[in-house]
Amino acid sequence: MNQPIRLAEHPLLGPFERGPEVEFSFEGTPVTAHAGESLGAALLAAGIRTLRVSRRGEPRGLYCAIGQCLECRVVVEGAGMRRACLTPVEAGMVVRRHRDPRGSRAHDR
Ligand code: FES
Repeated sequence: MNQPIRLAEHPLLGPFERGPEVEFSFEGTPVTAHAGESLGAALLAAGIRTLRVSRRGEPRGLYCAIGQCLECRVVVEGAGMRRACLTPVEAGMVVRRHRDPRGSRAHDR
């Protein structure tokens, strides 16, 4: 069984400061994180691995974790599409999976 892990350091962002616990929501579910860590790290620690759905309807998540592959795209209310691996958590964020709008059409072909 996979155990959730919490990243402590990022190659671009450096070590994550373990700030106070903050809460945000992902797909309507509350997630507890530490201020200063990335959305990707917080979601991974919460056991959430599917961050977006591809145009073919396939689950996608953290891959490169350095902002290059775009597989970790999420939608942050009021901020639009963001890369979870590079976006710091903020208390009260409302985050949803990114779903490719062409998904259903591409999947029908
Ligand atoms: S995991 Fe590759 S851009 Fe975020």
